[in-house]
Amino acid sequence: MNSSKGEWGSNLGFLMAAVGSAVGLGNLWGFPYKMGMNGGFAFLLFYLILAVLVGFVIMLGELTIGRRTGRGVIAAYSMLSKKYAVLGWMAFLCPILILSFYCSLGGYCLKYALANLGDVFGAVWGVNGADATNYFINFYTNGFSASIFAVIFTIITVIIVMGGVSGGIERFSKIAMPALFVLLLVVIIKAVTLPGASAGLEFMFVPNWEVFKGFGWISVLATAGGQMFFSLSLGMGIIITYGSYLSKTENIEKNALIIPITDTIVALMAGLAVFPAVFAMGMEPAGGPGLLFITLQAVFDAMGAAGPMFGFFLYFLVFIAAITSSISLMEVVVSVLIDRKEEKGKIANRKQLSVFIGAILCVLTILISIDSLGEGSLPKLLGFCWLDFFDLLSEGIMMPVGALLMSLIIGWKLGPDWMREELCQEGNKWRFEKFAMFCFKYIAPIGMAMILLGQIDGFFKLGIFN
Ligand code: ALA
Repeated sequence: MNSSKGEWGSNLGFLMAAVGSAVGLGNLWGFPYKMGMNGGFAFLLFYLILAVLVGFVIMLGELTIGRRTGRGVIAAYSMLSKKYAVLGWMAFLCPILILSFYCSLGGYCLKYALANLGDVFGAVWGVNGADATNYFINFYTNGFSASIFAVIFTIITVIIVMGGVSGGIERFSKIAMPALFVLLLVVIIKAVTLPGASAGLEFMFVPNWEVFKGFGWISVLATAGGQMFFSLSLGMGIIITYGSYLSKTENIEKNALIIPITDTIVALMAGLAVFPAVFAMGMEPAGGPGLLFITLQAVFDAMGAAGPMFGFFLYFLVFIAAITSSISLMEVVVSVLIDRKEEKGKIANRKQLSVFIGAILCVLTILISIDSLGEGSLPKLLGFCWLDFFDLLSEGIMMPVGALLMSLIIGWKLGPDWMREELCQEGNKWRFEKFAMFCFKYIAPIGMAMILLGQIDGFFKLGIFN
């Protein structure tokens, strides 16, 4: 517990914030698409196995480190041993890199939610029947307008984080998460009742064994692992930071189980909201920004009168999901800066620090926005557009390396006694001790090494697993 920074008002509040962090752009549009392209139900099975053997234990480890040390990521790792401080630094840098493009993409969602709302009212700022592809290209290649929305998104994030752990993050998540769930249900009901929706369900759930030919299954495994890892907010300091605000009476192991289960259910629901509608309207599912901002907008345009309202609901819910994730990313950075101030014997002013970080993020997210997914005039970084380069450094390298080393440290250095001391406080039990320690020592490091290889393979298009 860290009284100077505050703590969660209740375990439910913590869960809402942690699930809110997990449910974000990564699983609302990445999960269903990757599932559809990587064997459907077979991908889901791999995902679930990895979530149990790797995701659950890394979540358990990060929550334990967070609550035991009660500090932000750099101080937390330094308290374990000075030589582990580098892991803290990586977990501190990752959220900054991720936020720089997350705020830009979050801004896209805000723009699309407003544009669909504009269509509901027949306003000039609506999509107004423009071709979906041209509309998207016109938006993202206009660095000025993309930057404005990115900055608005960043400012909303800053305002919530300024409110503190229970007064800002928890309070917002307790409203946003149930709202997101209701919106998702509304969109699913509409999507699955469209004529021809069943083809979308087949795309998601019917196993496609073709992708498993030769070494194809390794590629599916690596994709499922990378998706699971980003989606659960692991390796980016969030879970350690959120764990540091958790009361000693709460059961860490139970929480480490609930978060992945809920996150996976929401990811599946996202698929049910998207693919039945895409197939019902005779569209081809695309990947990445193309799915969310071109295919889906074309779906809403083709839906007639109900389209704009349906579109507004969907983009607004993705926007809310992105905000509950961006506040968790920013809290990692704020928490470290508060630690630094307090270590120097000064009083930390959360509001000032949040504005300071917000200003840096605004600069970074404007750079990403004017790079226009690589079509702007900014120079390439090692051959990558800015978004991909920042993603490579964080999701591609530092996050999997950090989590791999963390599982080895817990498995081989800190050991079960160290874990038990924290997990078994206030009468709580550590039910899956043997299983978890086996995973920390062997399964999670092997799984993380595969995910790391899969990321490098994907970013550099090496074709290792083909
Ligand atoms: N876990 C968050 C997401 O999936 C970061 O977007």
